[in-house]
Amino acid sequence: MYCTEVMQSEHDNILSFLDVVRAMCCHVLETKEVDTGDFRKVIEFARNYSDHQHHGKEEKFLFNEMEARLGAMGQNLIRHGMLVEHDLCRGHILDLEAALDLYDAHPDKTVYVLDILEAAEGYATLLTRHIKKENTVVYPFAERSLPAEVVSEINRKVEDFEKETEKQGIQQHYLALRDELKAKYGTVEDQHDLAAAAPLPAGLHKKA
Ligand SMILES: [Fe+2]
Ligand SMILES: [Fe+2]
Repeated sequence: MYCTEVMQSEHDNILSFLDVVRAMCCHVLETKEVDTGDFRKVIEFARNYSDHQHHGKEEKFLFNEMEARLGAMGQNLIRHGMLVEHDLCRGHILDLEAALDLYDAHPDKTVYVLDILEAAEGYATLLTRHIKKENTVVYPFAERSLPAEVVSEINRKVEDFEKETEKQGIQQHYLALRDELKAKYGTVEDQHDLAAAAPLPAGLHKKA
């Protein structure tokens, strides 16, 4: 399914970005230095790539069809699962922005550093686990359950959206932003992956 292939490749891009976010948090712990401009770049990527470019496509083109056509299981999985988690991600980013504003106003307050780290790390862990659920449960459910004509229509809409945003240079811009932060902070990819190690919540099985 073209739509889920595009979205899984975005997941790979987002996971590599989240890895850099965790490296940025480690950098703060190790050096006690907070570059609020760099954390504001994290917010920019989270809002425009992870949320608008990726969650926006899920919500407008795929999840709406799953909710409408896949019965109670589709409704529960999407409305009470995936959409709630998208909102929780947005909440972490709002918290991060508020913490950065407070830290910029009061750079001597350690508690705002704690709030920055908590919001950034909470976002990274939540979104990593969310992506794992989509790759293993939600997308396969869509691929095997949606009628062929609906899949074609979703694919067409996603293709149009991709062409339009490529014309605007969205993908190129935000992946370059991720690479810029990665060049500065590195990654933690060789370290323990909390979300990958955690089991999926009860009720979410591969056969959903
Ligand atoms: Fe999602
Ligand atoms: Fe996703």
